[in-house]
Amino acid sequence: MPDRDKPLFILNGPNLNLLGVREPEIYGRATLADVKAVCERAAGARAIDFRQTNHEGVLIDWLHEAREKAAAIILNPGAYAHTSIALRDAVSALPVPLIEVHLSNIAAREPFRHHSHVAGVAKGVVMGFGAESYALAIAAALRLEGAVS
Ligand code: DQA
Repeated sequence: MPDRDKPLFILNGPNLNLLGVREPEIYGRATLADVKAVCERAAGARAIDFRQTNHEGVLIDWLHEAREKAAAIILNPGAYAHTSIALRDAVSALPVPLIEVHLSNIAAREPFRHHSHVAGVAKGVVMGFGAESYALAIAAALRLEGAVS
């Protein structure tokens, strides 16, 4: 299947199901459903497969699934960005581009959030723009596709 017929996988890690009620002064009032709507708008006619899990192994299974099924991946790893070498290894092994996103600017927060294990093996990182981080990452993924065809 040509890559352009494949969806963009948009994967969300732990605690992101609580968006809207979780520390709104940091993450804003948008719910995960609102974030999904932002993604659908940004993707236009392009199909997206939008998911969230609180489990590290499930995220890794989804990255393995994406190897065949996705044209590109947008990943908000949540706190696993700061802790998971296993997640980094799964990203590093991907044959398709992955863009890491964060709602908040992790570089401006507590020191333990400054390092992301994923960032070094991602195509790029978008952070600090709330739900718009996802829209910007989707725009980048679609632009990248244009550049390689
Ligand atoms: C986050 C930033 C992480 O440090 C935090 O653990 C999250 C959310 C963000 O989108 O800003 O769960 O990934």
